[in-house]
Amino acid sequence: MCGIVGYAGRERCVEVLMDGLEHLEYRGYDSAGLALQREGRIEQIREVGELRNLARTIAARNGDLSRVQTGVGHTRWATHGRPSEENAHPHLGGDGSVAVVHNGIIENFAELREELEERGVAFSSETDTEVMAHLIAERVQAGETLRVALAGVLQRLEGSFAVAAVSVEEPGTIVAARHQSPLVVGLGEGENFLASAVQALLKETHEFLVVENGEIVEITDSSVEVFDAAGDPVERESFEVDWDAEAVELGGYEDYMLKEIHEQPAALRATLLGRLDAEGAVDLSEIGLDLSEIERVVIVGCGTAYHAGLLGKHAIERFARIPVEVAIASEYRYADPIGDENTLVVAISQSGETTDTLAAIQAAREFGGKVLAVTNTQGSLITREADAVLLTKAGPEICVASTKAFTAQVAVLDLLALALAGVRGTVAEGELRGIGRDLRLAPEKVEETLGLVGDRVEEAVELFDDARCSLFLGRGTACPVAMEGALKLKEISYLPSEGYPAGEMKHGPIALVDEYCPVVAIIGDGLVREKTLSNAEETVARGANVVALAREGDRAARRMARLVLPVPEAPEILAPFVCSVPLQLLAYHVAKERGLDVDKPRNLAKSVTVE
Ligand code: F6R
Repeated sequence: MCGIVGYAGRERCVEVLMDGLEHLEYRGYDSAGLALQREGRIEQIREVGELRNLARTIAARNGDLSRVQTGVGHTRWATHGRPSEENAHPHLGGDGSVAVVHNGIIENFAELREELEERGVAFSSETDTEVMAHLIAERVQAGETLRVALAGVLQRLEGSFAVAAVSVEEPGTIVAARHQSPLVVGLGEGENFLASAVQALLKETHEFLVVENGEIVEITDSSVEVFDAAGDPVERESFEVDWDAEAVELGGYEDYMLKEIHEQPAALRATLLGRLDAEGAVDLSEIGLDLSEIERVVIVGCGTAYHAGLLGKHAIERFARIPVEVAIASEYRYADPIGDENTLVVAISQSGETTDTLAAIQAAREFGGKVLAVTNTQGSLITREADAVLLTKAGPEICVASTKAFTAQVAVLDLLALALAGVRGTVAEGELRGIGRDLRLAPEKVEETLGLVGDRVEEAVELFDDARCSLFLGRGTACPVAMEGALKLKEISYLPSEGYPAGEMKHGPIALVDEYCPVVAIIGDGLVREKTLSNAEETVARGANVVALAREGDRAARRMARLVLPVPEAPEILAPFVCSVPLQLLAYHVAKERGLDVDKPRNLAKSVTVE
């Protein structure tokens, strides 16, 4: 949460910082600000609310900032102190001689603040960050370089942080460090960059350096130097990021969410490519783990990633017959988890930064589990904590609500299930390949779904006009899909929504049902179809307007429901894909109808780097 960006180079600093912040706004949008090195001083410009407010202020300066060559910027998701101009970053220390931007939480800030106040330091905000600005400034005023001052201050901090600082004493230099919060350095020619995530800098560079926990980096227009906590230089290899700059633009769509929903066929194609051949054979040799030793699987994740994990459990237990536990990462870490070296812990995180998921990995390490990270973000923290990595190749996901990353996660877990089944011989070779060939159809089937749903979803939106809450029901794999559908709807439309096992509904949630509680029922196929239909009928009998997700020609669904959102005929393994897409579109259109910002729902941020 919170996005930081830094630039040292030519007279285009403000442009680069603002563009970087625009691509980091998904991390928080309570306020934004810049600290710019000007002749002999630091200028701080901050505004409450979305970045466009800051952009307006900058535009009103009529090019007066066009000569600036070095600076740092920040977009905030408030932790300590309400969103206000005083609490917006950057924060200044030492009468404005040092400026700091920060992502994370300084847990011992109260004690540090007290200590500084006793020394006569006056605070101008309620934030934890401001203590850093003053502590650094004190050391710089005592004659330390900015880097040495930051290193000294880091020794005193508890919590998680990525921090970048500039000082009037060192024009053209930025120093930065991180502990449990992300930070990358972008490499340029005659200019260098810092950011919380690579997507902030894709227009500028594709070559990056990772800064590890506890390290300090110093950048100028012509140098990037990394140091360890003791101040010794560290050699660091750069890495290339293959995302296009266009991937982080709207490309003609009204919102990132709609764009990302429509990118799912491409995301699935890229995720399956090279891992599933035309014969349906799976190759996950890239992970380099001996899957034959796995006796138990634990899947950890938060929110949408947790729902993908629930679908992974279905696939792994069904095909590989290995017991799977799915845990919410924030609970798992405190649950004294059980496991051994034959336990495979699959940690799912689109961003690769979620603090709770990283902590769950630590917990798994304690019992000796093997950790496989499923992430969308190359070079992210999780990739360095895990024993092995399977990348979802969904491309950058900007909208706070996850869509394409979710279906790509499900595809990766299906691949893992088939790979485990292959190693264990739990499914006959021919049958396994058949399932693999079915999975290869995921991109086409999702494409077909997008075409089939078309305008139908907008009709469904009317049923939500007067809704007070809503219920999403499904059985089997349709249950996690229902939970994900409800999460999508509630997070972007603010309509209370529950995703529930259809058969369990009678044990409580049915009390919600009346004409103001539309019910979304995923009818599905196979064993549970009739039962789900009956459960949906039970809600109709209590006044509910039901939207059924069913095959186009499903007469029973048509009879029962007010409206059918059609899904194409698809093999069983593809049911979660074809059913998720209409629910994403439903959430999108309900939120749009309510006039809400679907990409930036209130109170949320895309990567959750606090506990
Ligand atoms: C919901 C959503 C969140 C994330 C969760 C985990 O649409 O996006 O629930 O899934 O915050 O994030 P990652 O996957 O980055 O660990």
